[in-house]
Amino acid sequence: MRRRHALGLVASLPGCAVAQTQPAPAETLRSIARAAGRGFGAAVRADLLGSDAAYAALFAAEAELLTPEWEAKWVALQPEEGRFDFSHLNAIITFAQANRQRVRGHALLWQEAIPDWVKAALAEGPDRARGVMEAHFAGVLGTTRQHIRDWDVVNEPIANPPGADVPQAGDNPLRETPWFKALGPNYIEMAFRTARAQDATLRLTLNEYGIEESTPDAEEKRRRLLALLRRLLDKGCPLDALGIQAHLQMRKPFDPAPFARFLDQIRAMGLAILITELDVREPDTLAEGIPARDAAVAERVKQFLDVAVAGGCRTVITWGLTDRNSWLGNEPGVLRRDGATTRGLPFDEELRRKPMWQAIAGALRG
Ligand code: G3I
Repeated sequence: MRRRHALGLVASLPGCAVAQTQPAPAETLRSIARAAGRGFGAAVRADLLGSDAAYAALFAAEAELLTPEWEAKWVALQPEEGRFDFSHLNAIITFAQANRQRVRGHALLWQEAIPDWVKAALAEGPDRARGVMEAHFAGVLGTTRQHIRDWDVVNEPIANPPGADVPQAGDNPLRETPWFKALGPNYIEMAFRTARAQDATLRLTLNEYGIEESTPDAEEKRRRLLALLRRLLDKGCPLDALGIQAHLQMRKPFDPAPFARFLDQIRAMGLAILITELDVREPDTLAEGIPARDAAVAERVKQFLDVAVAGGCRTVITWGLTDRNSWLGNEPGVLRRDGATTRGLPFDEELRRKPMWQAIAGALRG
């Protein structure tokens, strides 16, 4: 087992190796956020909670909020029609209970991580599609209501404009997902109304990415998102919050002003603002040496989070905690061409705090 550097005795779970211990760190992102009346959390993986004691202990110490990285997605929860499997998600819920943490749901409706049987059902037409959506929401929200009070109901509905990493052809402002094709543009409103019908007090969040930087495509994506949110709210659609993923890219410029204006418009709609999937992709040309690289990442994170917190964001969630298990190091589409490991999270592969940890701490104290 790798050496760990910041642990108290974690509340252990069946099958979760118990970590023997160093004195608990005086301050964690969890305690700093709480002291400032904010919340800090991270995306977590059930398989690693059960197999990596150091990983588990780090999450117990640093995170007050947990987002299942995969376990609350359709492919995990309803792999076959009518057969629900909450085993992976329950492992995270049980861990959270043992460590006095909250769990966010991610995501009820998305164009990815859906089983083939759903894709086939959606192709059968709107009535079948609506039935499948309603049955899934009823099954999932009915089972998790006691433990999960906040869900990303619809994830990534806005089409990527020209100039974005993966642009959608044509001028449809909405992403042409299987849900869009089966149910038309109203599928988004339908999803929120279906979730609200299941639970009168659940926080309903719309989650999106590519709306952070000061590039023309990000500006256009913000414009499209604002138009969608206004349309939904004007129709009385139940919607409580916007989740800003914040997979930041240092090869793209970040200007605080347009992002701050965007947050003002979101807040003026009465929506809460959350940072839901923060991590950083370093520039194509890396600075010389780890300290310089980490300092540059920390600077971008601090600049971004200072605007977000000043703009009313009270919840910051990173997409993982350690470079050891980041999708940035696994996902073929985002792997670095130079083979370097992206250092886009607050802890390094040895679970040591990085300058990014200080940047997040500073912004949360903000
Ligand atoms: O498929 C296995 C499954 O059989 C196994 O039981 C399970 C538990 O070990 O793992 C599953 O594997 C992979 C899973 O990640 C676990 O980590 C899936 O194959 C793989 O597709 C999945 O990738 C996730 C991806 O979303 C798709 O769901 C990434 O970890 C996760 O980081 C990524 O997260 C997305 C957000 O949801 C939305 N925003 C962008 C973000 C990054 O792409």
